[in-house]
Amino acid sequence: MTKMLFLGILLLSVILVDGHLPHELPDYVLPDSVPLKDGDSFDYIVVGAGGAGTPAAARLALSGASVLLVEAGGDPNLNTRIPGLYSTLLGSALDWQYPTVTNNMSCLSSVGKQCRFGRGKCLGGSTSINFMMYVRGNHRDYNELGFNGWAWEDLKPYFLKYEGLQDLDKLPYTSIPYHNTTGTMKIGFFANPENSWHSRTIRGYRHLNFPYNYDVNAKSQIGISQVIGYVHEGERMSTARGYLARDDVKSALKVTKNTHCTGVILDKRNNAIGIKAVVKGRTLQLYARKEVIISAGTIGTPQILMLSGIGPKAHLKDLGIPVRADLPVGDSLTDHVFPQLYVSVNPDTSLPSQDEAMERWLYNRTGPLASIGITDLTAFLNTRCYDIIQRKLIYNSSDCEISTMQLANSYVGLYQPSSSLNEGIAQQLTAANKNKALILFGPLVLRPFSRGSIRLASRDPLQKPSIFPNYLSDERDVDEMLRGIIIVEHLMETPEYKAHYASIVHLKLPGCPEYANDREGYWRCYCRHMTSSLLHAVGTARLGPVVDPQQRVHGVKRLRVADLSVLPEVPRGNTAAVAIAIGERVADVILKDAKKF
Ligand SMILES: Cc1cc2nc3c(=O)[nH]c(=O)nc-3n(C[C@H](O)[C@H](O)[C@H](O)COP(=O)(O)OP(=O)(O)OC[C@H]3O[C@@H](n4cnc5c(N)ncnc54)[C@H](O)[C@@H]3O)c2cc1C
Ligand SMILES: *[C@@H]1O[C@H](CO)[C@@H](O)[C@H](O)[C@H]1NC(C)=O
Ligand SMILES: *[C@@H]1O[C@H](CO)[C@@H](O)[C@H](O)[C@H]1NC(C)=O
Ligand SMILES: *[C@@H]1O[C@H](CO)[C@@H](O)[C@H](O)[C@H]1NC(C)=O
Ligand SMILES: *[C@@H]1O[C@H](CO)[C@@H](O)[C@H](O)[C@H]1NC(C)=O
Repeated sequence: MTKMLFLGILLLSVILVDGHLPHELPDYVLPDSVPLKDGDSFDYIVVGAGGAGTPAAARLALSGASVLLVEAGGDPNLNTRIPGLYSTLLGSALDWQYPTVTNNMSCLSSVGKQCRFGRGKCLGGSTSINFMMYVRGNHRDYNELGFNGWAWEDLKPYFLKYEGLQDLDKLPYTSIPYHNTTGTMKIGFFANPENSWHSRTIRGYRHLNFPYNYDVNAKSQIGISQVIGYVHEGERMSTARGYLARDDVKSALKVTKNTHCTGVILDKRNNAIGIKAVVKGRTLQLYARKEVIISAGTIGTPQILMLSGIGPKAHLKDLGIPVRADLPVGDSLTDHVFPQLYVSVNPDTSLPSQDEAMERWLYNRTGPLASIGITDLTAFLNTRCYDIIQRKLIYNSSDCEISTMQLANSYVGLYQPSSSLNEGIAQQLTAANKNKALILFGPLVLRPFSRGSIRLASRDPLQKPSIFPNYLSDERDVDEMLRGIIIVEHLMETPEYKAHYASIVHLKLPGCPEYANDREGYWRCYCRHMTSSLLHAVGTARLGPVVDPQQRVHGVKRLRVADLSVLPEVPRGNTAAVAIAIGERVADVILKDAKKF
């Protein structure tokens, strides 16, 4: 992939004309930064131009209010626009690359035993660097929350409000009530990756009796699906493109880039009256006449709150930060976690060359680079409904609708040692990749029991916070992983995979039993070594103890949180869709509240 990236940059630099792509389709232009002075004021300030903050700010501005959107990063680069380069963005300059603290029980084969915690740092936030899969989760995720205004039927209008599905005609009629075709986020199926492992993988799951599910965002999630993506005319659809590139939004909204928020300004009566932010080394005080909305994500948001004196009393006291509201900010971090399982297979030799693929994308926005390979395939299931003896997914109870696992995958033609796995593992994977392709399988635990936390590392607002993912501190999460590994083992024995000599790579892991001697012991140990996350963390400013159902922070006035940190539990699915819905929702709630006065 690094090779592909390099090639991409090379080709782009040769072909780029005035920074624009040779393109017959309309290009899009993101807003410029507004010049700011110390003391400037607005009706609303929204911090973080990511999945949730961007729609929140755009909708407030379109209502006629004066709104400033504050983003620590700059513009996303051209690589973010090419779907096929999705796996090169993590670890790049657009990633915060947060370090994490080990719990000595997970990610043991990563460098420094540190689990990787990437997040987007640019307009669009993580939606500019993510894998673009459009999945809303299970309706139960919202019904189970038990908060007013957060049930599926309450949130559905916000999901629909932004959805601009271009491919409704490719879905069954029963899908119609679940979609909108005219929203601002234009989405659709990815291009054909032209990789024979795509259809083979679907047939493999079908062999294990997984139903083919045409639409994970309709009635049921269960089965093997090709999901819709945040992709339009062969290019990524981030919230930056979907909202900020619109002319009406550009003329209504003020955006400031490369502006790092370092705290909320509270007056003596705990009213949030503005923020502090560092721009080009200068600290500015910026004021909000009505409200401040923090949308800096599951890591950025608790950091800003704690720096402002909103957080656990003992921790703030330790750092000498005056306590303004004693709340469990930063607690209850939870995330989708999986063991990275590498499968060695015969490569697809008919794939177009990298040069050809790049040329096709550049001129026509088609070909494998307009896809995310086989990653748009995903399977949802309740592992308790997989019959190990019969090797098939069954449906013997209504609980089988409650997914406990998502099986994700990624085709790795040429393995490039990643910065996160240690040298010993990288060497084994490079060896396994000789004359073979690798497919990475991720059996994701959708509802982990383990909980982590976020704390300030220091009072310095520009220092990254301490992240304790604490994955696999609860053995039940490993139990669930084991149930998933068995399914991947069975998948390898389906005729589709077997015919192409597929086999799981049994990595040699120091301190783990041999696979041949103790299969279960090996896999349990493997899960603790090869732990990874799909970067869906939530929970650090959660509904209930930290914010009320209107997303107002307890004990403080005029301050709301709008991003994934408000969700107490991670949804059973990829998280960008709900992040955008949360941004749409907060704008609606604020505007309704404003009318009351
Ligand atoms: C590599 C990767 C792959 C993923 N794949 C998928 C996928 O395929 N499908 C899916 O649905 N989800 C996916 N996700 C998850 C999804 O993108 C995120 O859950 C979602 O974008 C979160 O939205 P958010 O608004 O909470 O935070 P973000 O989108 O992360 O936005 C937070 C914003 O706040 C800014 N910020 C942070 N701190 C400050 C500060 N102090 N001052 C100013 N600005 C600040 C950040 O720069 C960022 O722009 C993926 C995530 C990653 C990282
Ligand atoms: C992990 O192990 C290191 C080295 O032994 C130790 O310093 C650290 O405190 C341990 N961390 C935890 C959370 O146990
Ligand atoms: C579909 O999107 C349009 C444009 O945002 C919006 O006006 C309309 O209300 C949406 N439809 C539904 C059912 O939400
Ligand atoms: C682009 O599409 C046109 C029309 O289908 C085709 O003739 C041309 O060869 C394509 N260009 C590339 C580089 O694939
Ligand atoms: C359904 O089948 C699974 C797998 O065979 C079994 O473990 C489970 O107990 C069954 N559940 C019910 C309600 O029969």
